[in-house]
Amino acid sequence: MEAENKKKILVMNGPNLNLLGRRQPEIYGSEGFEGYFERLRAEFDGLELAYFQSNHEGALVDKLHQVGFDWQGVVLNAGAYTHTSLALADAIAAIAAPVVEVHISNVHAREAFRHHSTLSRVCRGVVLGFGLESYRLALQHFAWEAARGQI
Ligand code: DQA
Repeated sequence: MEAENKKKILVMNGPNLNLLGRRQPEIYGSEGFEGYFERLRAEFDGLELAYFQSNHEGALVDKLHQVGFDWQGVVLNAGAYTHTSLALADAIAAIAAPVVEVHISNVHAREAFRHHSTLSRVCRGVVLGFGLESYRLALQHFAWEAARGQI
């Protein structure tokens, strides 16, 4: 597909997810994200994928503002901000692009403080508990939407 016709999707990771592969591998696996992302990029070659990671809430809000009116979708793992951030929830509600919330672990099988998300209410959907494959499933949604001409 011509590059200019591809739908642009941002994959965004929040705090501590830069440590994937080294951080609690029994929960988050032993694979780093960058290599996995390159495989996703090859697989979803009908989409234009970009990756952004930050440990800072405001930087995540800024990035949503930056892409949220021109790009066609966001796959967001907000890490612990999922459970606390009204600023991220407001940013998701403010932008035009649909956001799919993802989690590597099954947060509902973990500590009680991980059971509530401030974000789910304003997200299109949630994929969780499938390891890194949660990102692939979220991207599959956008690939289907693109194929149907709905984004
Ligand atoms: C996480 C789950 C969160 O509770 C946690 O704070 C993370 C990662 C996940 O992908 O499973 O940082 O979002």
